[in-house]
Amino acid sequence: MKIYDLIGIGFGPSNIALAITLEEQKQSGYGIESFFIEKQPNFAWHANMLLDNAHMQVSFLKDLATMRNPSSHFTFINYLHQKNRLQDFINLKTFFPSRHEFNDYLTWAASHFDHCCAYGEEVIEVLPEKRGDEVALLRIRSRNREQVVHERLTRNLVISIGGQPRIPESFAPLKGDPRVFHSNNYLKEIKHHPHAKKIAVVGGGQSAAEIFMDLHHRYEKDKAQVDLIMRARAIKPSDDSPFVNEIFNTDFTDYVFNSSDQQRTEILNEFWHTNYAAPDLVLIEQIFNVFYRQKVAGIERHRFLRRHEVKQAVSQNDGIQFVLHDLNTEQDRTATYDAVVLATGYNRDYHKLLLAPIMPYFRDMQVDRQYRLNSVAQFKPSVFLQGACESSHGLSDTLLSVTAVRTHEIAQALINTSNQTTSAQLKRAMPSAFAY
Ligand SMILES: Cc1cc2nc3c(=O)[nH]c(=O)nc-3n(C[C@H](O)[C@H](O)[C@H](O)COP(=O)(O)OP(=O)(O)OC[C@H]3O[C@@H](n4cnc5c(N)ncnc54)[C@H](O)[C@@H]3O)c2cc1C
Ligand SMILES: NC(=O)c1ccc[n+]([C@@H]2O[C@H](COP(=O)([O-])OP(=O)(O)OC[C@H]3O[C@@H](n4cnc5c(N)ncnc54)[C@H](OP(=O)(O)O)[C@@H]3O)[C@@H](O)[C@H]2O)c1
Repeated sequence: MKIYDLIGIGFGPSNIALAITLEEQKQSGYGIESFFIEKQPNFAWHANMLLDNAHMQVSFLKDLATMRNPSSHFTFINYLHQKNRLQDFINLKTFFPSRHEFNDYLTWAASHFDHCCAYGEEVIEVLPEKRGDEVALLRIRSRNREQVVHERLTRNLVISIGGQPRIPESFAPLKGDPRVFHSNNYLKEIKHHPHAKKIAVVGGGQSAAEIFMDLHHRYEKDKAQVDLIMRARAIKPSDDSPFVNEIFNTDFTDYVFNSSDQQRTEILNEFWHTNYAAPDLVLIEQIFNVFYRQKVAGIERHRFLRRHEVKQAVSQNDGIQFVLHDLNTEQDRTATYDAVVLATGYNRDYHKLLLAPIMPYFRDMQVDRQYRLNSVAQFKPSVFLQGACESSHGLSDTLLSVTAVRTHEIAQALINTSNQTTSAQLKRAMPSAFAY
């Protein structure tokens, strides 16, 4: 069986950026043969949240390449140039393209790597390949939609699988009920509820805010009621003012990583709301405006249920019944909904399940500065994590902010790895897979 130098699980922005970095390393003479496995049938960037008016939350300059190599073929600016839109984009006068356009940019970038990415396969397991006492390689098992299992061997692994929907405990019994779905599936699911009269949106982050406005417009004609339910006292805006935004600079990663555990926790807590439970101010103003206009009209269509928690959610024939707990008054009341959107964020620990068979070889689940899990001496492969290192590397880890630079750090680690170097040197003259 063929042995790859590197297999990447997932082909979202993090691993596309890594594929680009490795491709550009080839020009400098380092040939690391990589392959990526993506469970979606084709590239799509959070496809079910591609809402009409949604915009990027970081500058387009924090694209897949610019921060590492501004002269790369894969910059957003070159994408615009290739698509003959550079001048039009300049006239837009924005740093924040629509999510539709950035998805198109990412799709364009990903399309350069069709020869080294298997779409429509979900990685289900990572197994050790032993040579004597040592784990020399990893066997990556994936399953396609026809339930056929594929196996591939690799010297190193990078897991970049993004987040998995966080479902609050009170909704666990409703798993499988088509009336309850996570924001991650919003566009796919909401179209099955064209006649909904009452809809709940749980959460107070960017996803909840965008979905609230989408529902407001989507059901304009039928005047469906949307309840925005959150535990917080207010919807607080994400702070992207310049001094605060410095926490997303690439050198801040060194500062966070080199801080003590206590300092790191303090930094994460202090800046938590730059990213989490923090919609853009403009969006918050739009929502406020909707409620204000209701007051002017004297008609209560939607409700803003702040300081409310869903204590219980029960499936009934006529809808999903909530027991809503008012955290201010400590009183409970019920409400029934035709559809429920859980905009309750994401967990980022699924890699532990994938790595379960090789868990004994990791000293802890901590990573070094180059995102590589600390392992015991007889475990030879390097296993890197992208997007699951927030606690050690800071709040930029789940975002696009440092992606381009992070992939350079991982590529350097790969090149420096002793079992890798031999293979990389052998292929020093390996030509690039494509010309551009
Ligand atoms: C709606 C939304 C909008 C966002 N907008 C921004 C923004 O504007 N700016 C910003 O900086 N960040 C934004 N983010 C944060 C987001 O995490 C990053 O933009 C970016 O998507 C991270 O890239 P990634 O490749 O690490 O993860 P993802 O984009 O999540 O990609 C992971 C990929 O791995 C695949 N995968 C998962 N499990 C498996 C498996 N077992 N086998 C095979 N494939 C698998 C998934 O299908 C997916 O394609 C947004 C997040 C969301 C949810
Ligand atoms: N256009 C865009 O660029 C765009 C769009 C969407 C998302 N994003 C990004 O995607 C990431 C995730 O954003 P998100 O809005 O999906 O998630 P999020 O910011 O993590 O917000 C999750 C929300 O759900 C609430 N919540 C979590 N668990 C809960 C529970 N058990 N019960 C009740 N409420 C609960 C949280 O409330 P508490 O605070 O009370 O815990 C919070 O309000 C962010 O990086 C965001 O910037 C970007």
